[in-house]
Amino acid sequence: METHPPRLKTNFADNDRLLKLKNAFETKYGQSPNFYAHAPGRVNLIGEHIDYCGYCVLPMAIEQSILAAVLVKDSGTIELANTNPHYKDFTVSVGAGEIEIDKDNPQWHYYFLCGVKGIQEHVSMSNLVGMQCVVDGTIPASSGLSSSSALVCCAGLVTMEANKKSLSKVALAEICAKCERYIGTEGGGMDQSISFLAEKGTAKLIEFNPLRATDVKLPGGAVFVISNCCVEMNKAASSHFNIRVVECRIATKMLAKVRGLEWKRLLKLAQVQTELGASLEDMLVLVEEVLHPEAYSREEICKSLGITPEQFSTDLLSSNTQHVTHFKLHQRARHVYGEASRVLRFKSVCDSQPADSVQLLGALMNQSHASCRDLYECSCPELDQLVDICLKAGAVGSRLTGAGWGGCAVSMVPSDKVESFIQTVREAYYTPDSRRAAMEKKSLFVSKPGGGATVFIHE
Ligand code: GLA
Repeated sequence: METHPPRLKTNFADNDRLLKLKNAFETKYGQSPNFYAHAPGRVNLIGEHIDYCGYCVLPMAIEQSILAAVLVKDSGTIELANTNPHYKDFTVSVGAGEIEIDKDNPQWHYYFLCGVKGIQEHVSMSNLVGMQCVVDGTIPASSGLSSSSALVCCAGLVTMEANKKSLSKVALAEICAKCERYIGTEGGGMDQSISFLAEKGTAKLIEFNPLRATDVKLPGGAVFVISNCCVEMNKAASSHFNIRVVECRIATKMLAKVRGLEWKRLLKLAQVQTELGASLEDMLVLVEEVLHPEAYSREEICKSLGITPEQFSTDLLSSNTQHVTHFKLHQRARHVYGEASRVLRFKSVCDSQPADSVQLLGALMNQSHASCRDLYECSCPELDQLVDICLKAGAVGSRLTGAGWGGCAVSMVPSDKVESFIQTVREAYYTPDSRRAAMEKKSLFVSKPGGGATVFIHE
């Protein structure tokens, strides 16, 4: 595998999107860009909300992406524009002082600045070069297809290239996973990893600590269809996501303490498994034994861990979860250990490709959705309805993908049924509602595994 993001010389004549962006750039800034950076979104096939618990996940990159045209300037500023007029221009000085990111106001340009800041800190550059950028995105926003992480990754790649630094794909993925936390979301690293490590034609098993991506050959005879339920969910603008991260962190401590581990040091549910040398099945038994299904109050957690309410707030909660009073530890831990096991089973079916592969993978996807809906409570009525429609329309498996609480479902559909599947989902979910019908074109499509982040320069 190549270790650095590819740098491709491209003939723009056969790339309509690049050509359009070049024209938009020239109209805006009156000069031609020096280079272009491209970072894809992703669809996660299985393994939801477990990357930040230390477990591997199984995404593939999609064709939709963030593409930026860049001109390096001796201006001391970064000027940002977007081809979508909804996203306003923004200029920031890169001379002296820190780049500031306003967590309470997660606007588009702050995601870009997360990537800039991440690279700046990693390579300890006090002075970044100035640049003008026009950004063009084709990933529907707040839809669970990782538009925000793709923007962070694209900005990271732009900053590396503009400042003539060279970083491996793994380093870029790790930097971009970390720096997206400046916007306040405690994500795991799946989105940034697949955006850099994806390869055309294959899904990837992404493992963390150390970060690794292994090809997963999907069985023939079926394709993945993405459908957006048209409910928007912006992770950074709500606390749902971080509440789950916190619940998993508290469950980690409670399980570790009961088993006599050094619980203060442990942060992720996977670490408890590793320290105990247990199987995932053992961990599910442990959850049943140790954690009760009723939500835990702050007082009960403090008492069990022997900590003060102040320690609870500062050590266990994040800034946007300070208001939470009850925590569902049993359900969240059950989801995580169960989902981690489903990812391994999914990979093993893809490796051995038995005759009924498609059915087996579909069943795992269905179990994953049920667990997200019932135990992790990260679905919503519209997504559940859409998943039901997809199954009735002929999918062998269907589940929410990405963070949830809105956004997309991914369905595994036998290749010979794709047309009738799309037609049925269209009629049942999109056509009856004018808002959804207007969004349908970009909301219901077949997706094949795409390639990872790339720099393009003019031939
Ligand atoms: C978001 C996060 C990822 C992951 C998913 C849920 O996309 O950025 O790291 O946690 O949600 O699986």
